[in-house]
Amino acid sequence: MPKEIYFEPSRTLMEFRLLPGLTTEETKIENISLRTPLVHSENNQPKYYLNTPVVAAAMQSVSGVDMAIELAKLGGTAFIYSSQTIKQQAQMVSGIKNYKAGFVEPETVKPETSIVELYELSRKKGYGTFPVVDLTGVLLGVITKNDYDVKLHENLKVHNRMIKRENLTVGINIEDIKDANALLMESHQSVLPIVNDKNKLRYLVFRKDIRNHLDNPLEVVDEEKRLLAAAAVNTHDYKERVPALVDAGVDILAVDSSDGHSVFQQKTLRWIKEHYSDLPVIGGNIITGQGFDFLVDAGARAVKVGMGGGSICITQEQKGTGRGLATAIIEVTEARDKYYQKSGRYIPVIADGGIVNAKDVTIALALGADYVMMGRYFARMDEAPTSKVTIHNQIMKPYWGEGAPRAREWKAARYYQMEFAEGVEGFVQYAGKLRDNLPEALSKIKASMSSCGSANIEEFHKKAKLEIVSALSLREGQVHDIYLPQKDGNYHSINWGN
Ligand code: IMP
Repeated sequence: MPKEIYFEPSRTLMEFRLLPGLTTEETKIENISLRTPLVHSENNQPKYYLNTPVVAAAMQSVSGVDMAIELAKLGGTAFIYSSQTIKQQAQMVSGIKNYKAGFVEPETVKPETSIVELYELSRKKGYGTFPVVDLTGVLLGVITKNDYDVKLHENLKVHNRMIKRENLTVGINIEDIKDANALLMESHQSVLPIVNDKNKLRYLVFRKDIRNHLDNPLEVVDEEKRLLAAAAVNTHDYKERVPALVDAGVDILAVDSSDGHSVFQQKTLRWIKEHYSDLPVIGGNIITGQGFDFLVDAGARAVKVGMGGGSICITQEQKGTGRGLATAIIEVTEARDKYYQKSGRYIPVIADGGIVNAKDVTIALALGADYVMMGRYFARMDEAPTSKVTIHNQIMKPYWGEGAPRAREWKAARYYQMEFAEGVEGFVQYAGKLRDNLPEALSKIKASMSSCGSANIEEFHKKAKLEIVSALSLREGQVHDIYLPQKDGNYHSINWGN
């Protein structure tokens, strides 16, 4: 094949703006659906949908069990990273599949535990409610931080201060959160212990959590109403890893590779298809139409697009490979649409890497992506499996790439065959709970779709009108010609006029 040189530069998401269309009753914000197919299913009747078009990246600093559970409740999914042992990853998948909304398996204390020890435990764990059990696990009472004062009661034991079993309302063999809620309401307690018929403690249900669990209309679940579990696999140990993940109950896999246009990925996809034909697998990452055809031919049931754009990514600098994400989406979704016309099979396309905020998600969807994957966005949340740190009075969370030295310490990680790093390690600004952030982003996406007269993502793909913006119009789109008050009492001036 002759070499090819393109003189037209590739485009990034931030170079595009949407032109509004006609907003109608049907496309009012409250009528907009963000439902989108997760993977191709037979007859184009997707078995799995996302109700929120975002997924969390398969990265050590992003997607553990807490992120997967909370994001699935909010309509998306998180891909459990494969840069860990097979056993650990399978345990994480089981953790998602066995999760019972609102039922917490609590840390317990013994009646003889001292109040000082209890106080220390409470500080370490960051919460204050502990059930008290005997050596066989029988519930004896509950103690909360309101029941003791560490100074006043420093010589006492837990059994001196706990609320005794006979004074508690306790649920026996309750399995349904609605029944637990009803009992909790009657009890006037803030927490309901659930025991089995031998009085052995099974769970706690907290009043403060109930709302979150009763009210998740967007939740993505399997046929048995368990949260959906997605996991990444690599092209090295898949013959051992995939069976373990399947045993743990995984619903969807993604082959995690920075360059998926390879015979290694082809082999992995074919092997999974041959041994687990019902298990949907996402292939990637690719940035060309050719790459799309290659992966679909190998058995991919959705394809992930993007190379070099991730916030922690140094692939472009290290290897010189990559492409602006917008151009990659445009070319790959053209290939997807051609393939659909030819075969009748609709293969979802996921945009991945460098998607910073709601506006980027919207542009990616408008260009043809079915949903997006993000790392940095989610790494800032409480549910990411990292601890907060304070740097220069700012609360931050660590975030590192799967190709950063820290992740590469794990031997079969995404970039393990390389002798150089493809990612960096840094910090992102802590943003709080996912539940307090994602709804705002979703309402921005809906507001744009409403302006563009599109009631759902499929319609958005057809109707969106996009335009490249000049550097000056980007500047015009930002705040300008005004003095803005700063936290330190000074004013920041952004004045181009006079
Ligand atoms: P972000 O949302 O901009 O932070 O990008 C996240 C995406 O970057 C992931 O979904 C991966 O596709 C990609 N990625 C993860 N780790 C690395 C790395 O170490 N180098 C390059 N790309 C990475």
